[in-house]
Amino acid sequence: MAEADNMTQSPVLDALINRASMPPRLFSDKGPPRKDIEKMLEAAMSAPDHGAVRPWRFHIIEGDARHKLGELFAEVLLDNDPFAPTAAIEKAKGRPLRAPVIVTVCAKVDPSRAPKIPVMEQVVTAAAAMEHVVIAAQAMGYGAIILTGPNAQAGKVRSAFGLNRDDELLGFVYIGCADEPAPPKERPDARDFTSDWTG
Ligand SMILES: Cc1cc2nc3c(=O)[nH]c(=O)nc-3n(C[C@H](O)[C@H](O)[C@H](O)COP(=O)(O)O)c2cc1C
Repeated sequence: MAEADNMTQSPVLDALINRASMPPRLFSDKGPPRKDIEKMLEAAMSAPDHGAVRPWRFHIIEGDARHKLGELFAEVLLDNDPFAPTAAIEKAKGRPLRAPVIVTVCAKVDPSRAPKIPVMEQVVTAAAAMEHVVIAAQAMGYGAIILTGPNAQAGKVRSAFGLNRDDELLGFVYIGCADEPAPPKERPDARDFTSDWTG
């Protein structure tokens, strides 16, 4: 019992239970230095990975590169709606400017490893790596939030990140400093999603 009590005070458990995404409006202009981003990505390397496929790919976007991503988002908008109003175009351009750093997380899968390691499992692995980045960022005192929207599926954006047909762009992880902590959230009761399976 003493052991279980100790475990409920683990800082890792605390970080997991209290993780909360940073609303983009709370990011300041200050972002993590490169060495801190590298530490977050080091944390991603321990994501569970069937067959050591290493399907995760990270693209760090900061500074002016965010404007280039914004231009791409605006192109996607105009491809879908050539008469999009100026305000919508400006909004699309501004999306990547909401945080000082974005880490784009992709799953670069190897279909030849299936069926032993199905493509779905490889995508799950990259998604786990993405969550490690988010948790590491928060553990280091930064705010983070995964955002996607239709841009993440758009052909132009996918090819800008070098994705093939079976690959996935899993999310844009927006990371930065904030003047206040992410607002705490009410979480559901895990028991509502749990049952004993007895066959
Ligand atoms: C793959 C993925 C994509 C997401 N895309 C968006 C998005 O485009 N817009 C959004 O508001 N939230 C998006 N979210 C949800 C946020 O990252 C966040 O989880 C949500 O705001 C709830 O906050 P919480 O993480 O503190 O519970 C996405 C989450 C995941 C896992």
